[in-house]
Amino acid sequence: MFDPSTLAAPIVGAPMAGGPSTPELTAAISAAGGFGMLAGAYLTADGLRAEIAAVRALTDAPFGVNLFVPEEIPFDAEAFAGYRTRLLRLAERFGATLPEHVEYSDDAFDAKVAVLLESGVAAVSFTFGAPAPEIYTAFADHGIGTVTTVTSRADAERAVAAGTAALCAQGIEAGGHRSTFGILDSDTEIGVRELVADVSALGVPVIGSGGVGDVDDVRAILDAGAVAAQVGTLFLRTGEAGTKPAHRDALSDPRFTETATTRAYSGRLARGLVNDFIRDFSATAPPVYPQVNTLTGPLRRAAAEDPQMINLWAGTGWRGAREVSAAEVVAQLTPGT
Ligand SMILES: Cc1cc2nc3c(=O)[nH]c(=O)nc-3n(C[C@H](O)[C@H](O)[C@H](O)COP(=O)(O)O)c2cc1C
Repeated sequence: MFDPSTLAAPIVGAPMAGGPSTPELTAAISAAGGFGMLAGAYLTADGLRAEIAAVRALTDAPFGVNLFVPEEIPFDAEAFAGYRTRLLRLAERFGATLPEHVEYSDDAFDAKVAVLLESGVAAVSFTFGAPAPEIYTAFADHGIGTVTTVTSRADAERAVAAGTAALCAQGIEAGGHRSTFGILDSDTEIGVRELVADVSALGVPVIGSGGVGDVDDVRAILDAGAVAAQVGTLFLRTGEAGTKPAHRDALSDPRFTETATTRAYSGRLARGLVNDFIRDFSATAPPVYPQVNTLTGPLRRAAAEDPQMINLWAGTGWRGAREVSAAEVVAQLTPGT
């Protein structure tokens, strides 16, 4: 059974949905002694099966898969329509058609759970919530480890009560989506070290995540009580990652000087480099997920080469991201090597 305390290198490669996560990146991190996590979000069940097979073709080393846990809340049609109207001028500029109606989607969660139960992967991690206790039990019965990503002590307690085998404590420094359990929840904004120390008391192994820019940051996370650090942003410029060129370039572009959390792209809070889109739309973006994510999709695709428009997910340690191999990142981040 997956035990994050026993990794040769205490580095978990963050799942990064929407492009950056690739079988090559997952395999390279695991082969280098860390633990690669494939992003399962936004894929179909068949697509996920194919990506798992692609990792297997590259390495025998164990790896994991991450899923977004769905939460269906009443759809705020007025807020959605209002936000759509505010985006129309921009959409016109880029020749994008924004959908008027977006159906709720649970991202094929049950179908993907079924694929994973039979997949033989070493671990599954959950983001945006803790699934039902039966799901944790089913994975345990199949010898598959479980990790639940949390941003607060309260969510960590819920995950442990539901049966998670390990926690990923995601600090406010982290790039990408915040794994708050409730879409409407306000952000606790707790730093990774404080959160690791707090949830370590709950009796399951803790992986600390957020803002790693160098090996000292990894050491600080381990010193706070974590058994490993989950790192995303520092892998974004590696050759194995599927990061879009405009995103890749922005990470080393001195015009980008800070990161912030925003609901502007998806309706859920996520941290990225501050660009024009974040500046213009963060204040009015409604907490309507996943519909806002689908709404902005055509715009993000039409403006894929414009770093002022697309989501440039990045954690606070983004300046440490280098154009090196994933194995080099694992080696550089491993204390004592
Ligand atoms: C581009 C990008 C995409 C991400 N996608 C996911 C995801 O699909 N699932 C998930 O659990 N976390 C995702 N995250 C968050 C990571 O799991 C992790 O918390 C974060 O990368 C850690 O902070 P760092 O980027 O500063 O290292 C993503 C992060 C980034 C930067």
